Amino acid sequence: MLHELMKLPYAYDALEPMMSAETLQYHHGKHHAGYVTKLNALISGTAEFESKSLVEIIKHADGAVYNNAAQVYNHDFFWTTLSPESTVPSLALDSVINAQFGSIEAFKKAFIEKGVTLFGSGWVWLCIDDKKNLSIVNTSNADNPLRSGLVPLMVCDVWEHAYYIDYRNARADYLENWWKLLNWKFVSFNFANHEKHRGDYFSNFCKDNTPYCDYIDALDAKEESGS
Ligand SMILES: [Fe+2]
Repeated sequence: MLHELMKLPYAYDALEPMMSAETLQYHHGKHHAGYVTKLNALISGTAEFESKSLVEIIKHADGAVYNNAAQVYNHDFFWTTLSPESTVPSLALDSVINAQFGSIEAFKKAFIEKGVTLFGSGWVWLCIDDKKNLSIVNTSNADNPLRSGLVPLMVCDVWEHAYYIDYRNARADYLENWWKLLNWKFVSFNFANHEKHRGDYFSNFCKDNTPYCDYIDALDAKEESGS
């Protein structure tokens, strides 16, 4: 299957002032789009990968196919980890973060520290393992924790292209402001469904009909009915 550039669930200027429209134009419109184009060119006509989902490619490919597939997935995950709306963790997620990190504030500090100290380009993830232990994991370049058997719950992009326009080389300032955009609804959904979806929250990348979209539709319907 050929892959599509994810349609952002908000406008390019919706994350300002923490993340500018210019950053989103380049990051989503050029960098993310470039990975999708390269992936499709690499897998088109191949028996091994053309019909596979992103998660299947990430688990089995190497080299350029792996790098581009992982970068498509990582960016899909990154954009959905953000929201212009103010959100809070579910009670279940809040409870497990408090139990494992001490407090949300302590978790935030540890997550940002992991991003600041990552050498070079990469990603900072909150993951969960088979024993329901949470961990903050750094991956370099395109690497993805699905390869290590972990299930990702949230991610921050710490490639320079994610922040250089707005923050120049001040990665710590970017991470502090990025935190204000955190979509706790998505992280909570991932936590609640990690055993079922195993990180494949965008199954087959039918962008308007992912398990996460269904979840948000259900939440919105609940809010509208006042229940
Ligand atoms: Fe990026």
